[in-house]
Amino acid sequence: MLILGLTHPICWNTAACILVDGELVAMVEEERLNRIKHAPRMAPKLAMDYCLKQAGVDLQEVDCVAVGFDRGMETAVGNFRSEANLLSSMNQADKQLPLDGYDPSRVIFTNHHLAHAASAFFASGFDEANILTLDGSGGSESGTLAVGRGTEISVLKAISNRSSWGLLYEEITEKLGFRPHSGEGKVMGLAAYGVPDPLGLPCVDWTGEIPTIDPQRRKAFVEKLVPRKKDDAITAEHKDLAATLQDTLERAAACMAEWLFRETGIRRLCLAGGTALNCSMNGKLALLPFVDDIFIQPAAYDAGTALGAALSVHVAKTGQRPPWRMQHAYWGPEYSNAEIETALASYGERLHFRRSPDICQETAGLIAEGKIVGWFQGRSELGPRALGNRSILGDPSRPGMKDQINLHVKHREPWRPFAPSILEEEIARYIDRPRSSPYMILAFDTKIERHAEMCSAMHVDGTIRPQTVSRETNPRYWMLIKRFQEITGIPVVLNTSFNVESQPIVNAPQEAIDTFLDCGMDVLAIGDYLAWKNVA
Ligand SMILES: [Fe+2]
Repeated sequence: MLILGLTHPICWNTAACILVDGELVAMVEEERLNRIKHAPRMAPKLAMDYCLKQAGVDLQEVDCVAVGFDRGMETAVGNFRSEANLLSSMNQADKQLPLDGYDPSRVIFTNHHLAHAASAFFASGFDEANILTLDGSGGSESGTLAVGRGTEISVLKAISNRSSWGLLYEEITEKLGFRPHSGEGKVMGLAAYGVPDPLGLPCVDWTGEIPTIDPQRRKAFVEKLVPRKKDDAITAEHKDLAATLQDTLERAAACMAEWLFRETGIRRLCLAGGTALNCSMNGKLALLPFVDDIFIQPAAYDAGTALGAALSVHVAKTGQRPPWRMQHAYWGPEYSNAEIETALASYGERLHFRRSPDICQETAGLIAEGKIVGWFQGRSELGPRALGNRSILGDPSRPGMKDQINLHVKHREPWRPFAPSILEEEIARYIDRPRSSPYMILAFDTKIERHAEMCSAMHVDGTIRPQTVSRETNPRYWMLIKRFQEITGIPVVLNTSFNVESQPIVNAPQEAIDTFLDCGMDVLAIGDYLAWKNVA
């Protein structure tokens, strides 16, 4: 059974994946291939071609194509002014689907929030779980509270587009001078610098079964906010607004998780939808007393609906749960040493390089010396975080490292934090209630006595958004950090995505080399090669 999953081209970020007998074989976001950040409202054509090639089949051999959006949209307004507006956008976007010549009766459109829910629940390996999906708008709703049991996902409550939590976050993100659908993570980061109003945002009604946003009060509140221009100073008021928004969202999501627990008695939680990329919220939910375990797949946003649609079609066609659960994020393209060497050689006098006898040992030594290293290895990661295959790495214990990478490498605001990659078996050294966290999607408080070891990979409020690195799922990255620990005593490296601001994460060697040459990185460790810039 071959199922190709696609994000609908009406979405803000798109991807393709392929399941072979229920096992994920390949998945990649379109932005990594077409080099347009998020590839908004674009068909995942290159991503689809990559997935088919990786599975060794052509489109006609695929049993069905699953798309993570359908037309159940009676109440849809969200980002569209009217239903007619949405319908015409849908019709146009449908035409973009790269399925020329493919039998339309084998194309299955899945409800968007069901696709979000399935992307988490069927990938989690949990027999039973509560499921919370939250986004800006996705068809007829902006969120669902659901329960998954075996092969079934049942929606217990839906959140309308008019009361969208994701939309509220988007609107305030825009008022704070950041790009909606993109800058939400910055607002979350900014929130740590402010003081939340204990009353929360004035547009939330806390009296029902779950908190809801009153659309009129939301509109009035957002309209009254004075917009900050992109280059204006960030004031205490901006920070406090971000903090209040973040705190309100966290408290509301906790109420929703609690409502689900009371309804089902289940102590496991799955999250999906763009709002589930909010790692501060996720970390708070993970620590709730009635949540024993939590699962969020790395492409929680719309790209992930390609996977959710494919998994739910697999269940519908076979009556079985897929014999697979997601244990890592490495589903994208990879390049051989021969391809890498050819790419490096094509830069002539601009750089010099050599093959390393032990790339992990040498790179660990360079990081320990204070060098900033581009680290390009194996298959690219799914989702917005680099997880040790397309990463920029540094020594997390050097106080100046954060500023150096923000200013000279990433070209982004000095207050933006970085995250640590930690050997999985060492996580208890840094956080209470240790757990594995492979996707940098949960934020936790750090033990104060360990702050010095990762001062440059920690947020201003002492929280970290760790990636726990397992020897099984990424042996090369694990070995690099192990070697760094042998030199420094610290089983942690600072890890940020291999890109500069506003660029998608690099995919191919040439993009990695171009980025390396254009910014303040010291060394590039790519495949088995080390490369340095030739300074004129
Ligand atoms: Fe969505």
